[in-house]
Amino acid sequence: MTERRVIVIAGVPGVGKSTVASAVAERLGCPVIGVSELAVKEGALLGRDEERDTDVVDLPRLKEIIAEAVSATEGPIIVEGHYAYDVVPSDLVSHALVLRRAPWVLKEELRERDYSDEKVQENVEAELLDVPLVEAIEALGPDLVCEADTTRRTPEETVDEVLGIVEGSMPCRRNLVDWLGSPETRGLLEGG
Ligand SMILES: Nc1ncnc2c1ncn2[C@@H]1O[C@H](COP(=O)(O)OP(=O)(O)O)[C@@H](O)[C@H]1O
Ligand SMILES: [Mg+2]
Repeated sequence: MTERRVIVIAGVPGVGKSTVASAVAERLGCPVIGVSELAVKEGALLGRDEERDTDVVDLPRLKEIIAEAVSATEGPIIVEGHYAYDVVPSDLVSHALVLRRAPWVLKEELRERDYSDEKVQENVEAELLDVPLVEAIEALGPDLVCEADTTRRTPEETVDEVLGIVEGSMPCRRNLVDWLGSPETRGLLEGG
């Protein structure tokens, strides 16, 4: 089956992907695939990047596994992960939601996980520079890619927003945030 029915939920660690994806899946009554969990479960790993403190994923293999998993289902299916837009065959995607969170809020979220300072900083910078948005558009083209800002929203509000976008009752928005133009960013760049 080749119709577009995969909802991609992407964004840097700590923006709220797993929380939102499982709640949206529950509301739609559809399955959800977590990309990192799947990669570990299927052994689609090339090794470990010790310096960046992260697994190196076998992207082509993971893409095949996801294509197979999708073809074994009917109806919508959610794929959530940092680089989820890179592991779903683009012709299967109906919507790609890039979750955003203010870098200074994200930093606190990631500090509470047992991430190294470098890993916190790398992800804060990626969020600051819109990396997941740019990469999602590169992978899927602009039409399918929408943003939702989870800063100062409850998970329930974000879930309603994502459902609204997917069901077409809310607009798909891009260029939603301007972290570099925010005064709080100055403190972050000064190492605060
Ligand atoms: N609007 C929101 N949407 C999603 N998560 C939120 C939101 N506001 C606060 N959170 C909290 O932020 C954390 C996000 O963690 P998680 O879902 O694991 O993120 P990710 O999967 O992107 O790393 C959770 O503790 C969640 O309750
Ligand atoms: Mg997660």
